Amino acid sequence: MEKHPIGFDLIVYHDRNELQLSDRELLEASEEALKAAYAPYSEFKVGAALRLEDGTVVIGSNQENASFPSGLCAERVAVFQAGARFPGKTIETIAISVHSSADLPAKPAAPCGNCRQAIYEYEMRQKAPIRYLMQGQNGTIYECPSTHAILPLGFEGSQLGKAD
Ligand code: THU
Repeated sequence: MEKHPIGFDLIVYHDRNELQLSDRELLEASEEALKAAYAPYSEFKVGAALRLEDGTVVIGSNQENASFPSGLCAERVAVFQAGARFPGKTIETIAISVHSSADLPAKPAAPCGNCRQAIYEYEMRQKAPIRYLMQGQNGTIYECPSTHAILPLGFEGSQLGKAD
């Protein structure tokens, strides 16, 4: 029997001025993206902004549907858009902002399991980590180093004999 530690150091900022300018700007782009969220059912708005290797910023926001499972999270809207519009371009960082209309000051929210799995595919394809910045309404910002870090033992195409 062996034990293999799996984990990462979550970086927590309490002041956005601690971030470098390009990261602050990406978080602001995700705040802006959040304004286009269509979330009449959950009243939980999410904005995502990702930066590609050439500096291009691609945004997404959650888009809900009366048939709940037909809606899509902000992160997948953004990542699929990047895949469709800028194929082959490496995704460097994804910033995520959330806002709850309920009486809950939203803390930073990490992508849901489905989004992690979807983004993991891109991380595997590009063979480079995708970094995460997440902020809620309480001023706290989380930084995570990769999709692999937040989805350890993720399922990948190589297990189906595809890709690598
Ligand atoms: N949502 C996202 O957009 N991203 C996540 O990672 C978590 C959840 C959306 C889906 C739904 O529209 C609302 O937030 C509440 O679950």
